[in-house]
Amino acid sequence: MFPGLSNKVVLSSCSQSAISTTVLNAIDAYKDSLLQYGMEWNLWMEKVESAKVNFSKLINCEPEEVAILSSVSDCISSLLHSLKLSGKEICLTELDFPCIGQAVLAQQTKQNFKINYVPHQQYTIPIESYDDYINSNTILTCVPHVSYYNGFKQDIKELARISHQYGSLLFVDAYQSAGSMKIDVKEMNIDILVTGMQKYLLGIPGISFLYVKKELADQLAPSTIGWFGQEKPFDFNLKELHYAQATQRFNTGTPPVINAYAADAALSLINQIGIEKIEAYLNELSAFTLDLTKEMGFEMASPQVVSMKGPTTAILVENASQVEKQMLNLGFVVSARKDVIRIAPHIYNTKEDIKNALTALKGFQTQG
Ligand SMILES: Cc1ncc(COP(=O)(O)O)c(C=O)c1O
Repeated sequence: MFPGLSNKVVLSSCSQSAISTTVLNAIDAYKDSLLQYGMEWNLWMEKVESAKVNFSKLINCEPEEVAILSSVSDCISSLLHSLKLSGKEICLTELDFPCIGQAVLAQQTKQNFKINYVPHQQYTIPIESYDDYINSNTILTCVPHVSYYNGFKQDIKELARISHQYGSLLFVDAYQSAGSMKIDVKEMNIDILVTGMQKYLLGIPGISFLYVKKELADQLAPSTIGWFGQEKPFDFNLKELHYAQATQRFNTGTPPVINAYAADAALSLINQIGIEKIEAYLNELSAFTLDLTKEMGFEMASPQVVSMKGPTTAILVENASQVEKQMLNLGFVVSARKDVIRIAPHIYNTKEDIKNALTALKGFQTQG
């Protein structure tokens, strides 16, 4: 099902997963629709809706609680524009992806609020730290579920308890976790969650999902909007503003149709396999990777306990981006970030794949 694997080992799900025939066929179906019918708006919108329904099934929410945008950066910016932040505080972590920090800083040029950064300790954050950075004036706490740098995983349910205890909303960036582990927004008590399709969700870039729980979304008046976020877009009324129900109000213009075709196919595949099954297998690969890296004497940037990490394992190497290229020449797709090489497997990988990749990586290190 993953034709790209015939001549290489793809271990880059923290960046881009291998592409399945299911997704490739969906992209072709959109091409065929353009060629054969020219314009099939009803079908295209059905695909967008179906992607949304599949995503809401995956995270256990109602489809009306999910908006479709183009990137996680878009999602955080739209959300921040909808909040009254002046005089308040926002809590961020030093492990957030840069686009989260940058969007908050850009917002600070418009509204006057304070930012508190929860520091990391060797790229992990002890849960007790949060109490020092969230207080009763905190309106929003932004956390990554899993760190893009080293796969460190946070206890979201506990973070929801801590932030809610101070009256803060919890925003979860799930781009490095969605598709690799179970996420239940209701059970975890998450207020806002964002993710895209390119990483463990087995899709392509160009589409992202913004979950805002209904009770909250209904109170928000976003200012980054579009006609697809209106109650009756096809009334074509430019003199009135009527937000659509719940999180639909965060939709902007014409949705990214080809990306929705791909997303719908990838999400169907994930839901069909079952996220629990995927999580169990990836935990097995994670344990295997930790054991082997220890045995082989690698210097690690990831936590050494499976329960503290997602499937990504980060190994400290010199000249990481150069090593990424050299690994590709040997047929291994791995991903460099700063001073690490990330090994990020998915369901199509075997222990043998990981062993072979680590052996190749060790070769570069021995050569210096
Ligand atoms: C955790 C996390 N958040 C956000 C992003 C950026 O997402 P986008 O490019 O869709 O804005 C990434 C990209 O690598 C990421 O890993």
